[in-house]
Amino acid sequence: MSHFLGIDIGTGGARCLVIDGDGRVKGSATAEYPLSTPRPLWAEQQPEDWWQAVLQAVPEALRKAGVNGADVGAIGLSGQMHGAVFLDAAGQVIRPAILWCDQRTAAECEEITARAGADTVARITLNPVLTGFQAPKIVWLKNNEPDAFARIRKVLLPKDYIRFRMTRAFATEVSDASGTSLLNVRERRWSPEMMAASFVEPDWLPECFESVEPSAAVSAEAAEQLGLRPGTPVVGGGGDQAAGGVGSGIVEPGLVSSSLGTSGVVFAYADEPFVDPQMRTHTFCHAVPGKWHVMGVVLSAGGSLRWYRDTFCRDFKTLAAEKGADPYDLMTAEAAEIPAGCDGLFFLPYLSGERTPYPDPYARGVFFGATLAHTRAHFTRAVLEGVGFALKDSFDILRSIGVDATQVRVMGGGARSAVWRRILTDIVGRAHVTLNVDEGPAFGVALLAGVSQGAWSSVQEACRATLSTVERDEPRAEAVERYAPLHAFYSSLYAALRERFAGLARLADE
Ligand code: XUL
Repeated sequence: MSHFLGIDIGTGGARCLVIDGDGRVKGSATAEYPLSTPRPLWAEQQPEDWWQAVLQAVPEALRKAGVNGADVGAIGLSGQMHGAVFLDAAGQVIRPAILWCDQRTAAECEEITARAGADTVARITLNPVLTGFQAPKIVWLKNNEPDAFARIRKVLLPKDYIRFRMTRAFATEVSDASGTSLLNVRERRWSPEMMAASFVEPDWLPECFESVEPSAAVSAEAAEQLGLRPGTPVVGGGGDQAAGGVGSGIVEPGLVSSSLGTSGVVFAYADEPFVDPQMRTHTFCHAVPGKWHVMGVVLSAGGSLRWYRDTFCRDFKTLAAEKGADPYDLMTAEAAEIPAGCDGLFFLPYLSGERTPYPDPYARGVFFGATLAHTRAHFTRAVLEGVGFALKDSFDILRSIGVDATQVRVMGGGARSAVWRRILTDIVGRAHVTLNVDEGPAFGVALLAGVSQGAWSSVQEACRATLSTVERDEPRAEAVERYAPLHAFYSSLYAALRERFAGLARLADE
């Protein structure tokens, strides 16, 4: 039983990773599933699709790793945070899951905040109630699909639904539970006040563990389906951000990660639950027992570049396929030729609303400052810089509450681009490094599984033993100086457009 599994229920697919007792990655597999947007700014998925993907990815990863399922000592689960899976009395899914990036719940956020009181929300959850979070989705169901609401007996987060399918147990852990608006984040337990304010019955919520604690064991039926040993422990695991934090070693003071997936997240370890007084960043429980993390979330980071590629750079996709190259490499190579600041062209990456620093579901993507002199390469660079400016906002907030970065570990698909890393390093003004392992949340929870079985003495020890720096970009003083006023101008654009975004939303409603 010398191996550990990490399973991540992402937005695009489920990923399973197998590591050995020294933390070496032995094999992995991913199975994709669709995202449905029944209305603009809505986002749903079928929990059954996640489970089918897990049934595919786990045996495939074991096969690729050459590891027998009986040799898996423990499993860690991670996943997209905040989503709501509604189950009835028979444990059946009532309706499609409503996801983290769904923006339908603005009215319900206000309703919960008014019922609990804004001060109570802040004191207990350390965060505002935000449209992406889980509790407003439950209230939305009450307000809009009362028949479905009446059938609710359990509400689970995405990865915890997979835990249920693997073990039949209803369990979660503190890091993911932090993003529900139902947890007392300081005390790491469910909050009766927030449940009452959100019309949630206490027995709808799963038991809440620390991330390294064993929470349940694989059932005989699931073991048979997955090729695992019945009784294999499943540890608490973590929301994808906390799990990714472990997977990139952000488990000690001074270390911050900047991850460029669909969303972009600036993630810092915190010994204490530090809170931005304006609550523009999230303060959540960490997957490190008894610790917290503070993070800023840019909803469309890599997602902006992907949208831009698919909408405006189809020819690059064709060319890349012919050359056996990556279309992103072709796009960013062009962008590297354009000067910092794109000759006055700016991009606001608020394609699906925004969270940090503007919790605004109505914010929209904007290109600003286009002239006849601008080429497509300028637009590409503007997207890369716009995401960089958005991430810089989070770094600035973290610094203002005493969480400074001595080193930024850059992760995720976007981190593969040397051009984008250079831009981020100069905008943020801190050294950016890449690591030997960029397996993200699945790796983090596999380490947690290992810690639970004594492979390492602590989460910190697991990270120290397995992670090292590969590449390092230092900020260039001249470029840092050039970007400072550009960032200030970028920020002024949201201020100028905020009312217009809300007006646009009203117009669309008419
Ligand atoms: C974090 C967040 C996203 C999702 C999807 O707060 O909303 O990162 O977890 O990955």
